[in-house]
Amino acid sequence: MVTPASRAPFITLEGGEGAGKTTQARLLADRLASAGVSCLVTREPGGAPFAEAIRALLLRADLPPRGAMTEALLFLAARSDHVTEMILPALDAGKWVISDRFADSTFAYQGAAGGVPHATLVELHRLVLGDFRPDLTIILDLPPEVGLARIGSRHEIGQGADHFENRDLAYHEALRQGFLAIAAENPGRCVLIDARPSPAEVAARIWAVVEARLSGKMA
Ligand code: TYD
Repeated sequence: MVTPASRAPFITLEGGEGAGKTTQARLLADRLASAGVSCLVTREPGGAPFAEAIRALLLRADLPPRGAMTEALLFLAARSDHVTEMILPALDAGKWVISDRFADSTFAYQGAAGGVPHATLVELHRLVLGDFRPDLTIILDLPPEVGLARIGSRHEIGQGADHFENRDLAYHEALRQGFLAIAAENPGRCVLIDARPSPAEVAARIWAVVEARLSGKMA
């Protein structure tokens, strides 16, 4: 697949729990708007009506355990809907897209931490998405204890936590190593950013990367 020259940039934000992706997606969109660039801010799982229904199913904490492969297939189904219904139409209309999570979350959660072989996930993505991938991926890195303490203060402990947040520290450490490996293996697409500083400082570092890599597309 050859990406049309007119297609706008697709940026994804990735990382473990409590890294601040949602805040940073909004701050980046505000910054781009100030530079005269309009963008669609979206998220995974979800981002399109049918994909949001799959999200609701995936995040329910009251359903029995299921295998990582079952989850991967549901995330892929949701991603296929999201890309087809929302992301590609926006990019083709010249609108930048910022997604709070995308394919790297499947590689880290269901792959590195969940045990689905990396090659299987590569093949599934090739079948579903062809060679469509983000132009830039920001990976927000945080020690899991810090991230889990951040989300702990968002919930009463044990209340309101979703299926994924309920997993133990070893899972979240494997997840972090998964994201670090993705950053190391894809230096052309991914930039690792320390998520420990203040949200304003992290936003400034993200903006510096976006300007350095994509300012040519902002005209
Ligand atoms: P969400 O409430 O959006 O969490 P966060 O604010 O951390 O993004 O829930 C999404 C959960 O789904 C999150 O724990 C990560 C998980 N997930 C996967 O396991 N695989 C995936 O491919 C995606 C997109 C998300």
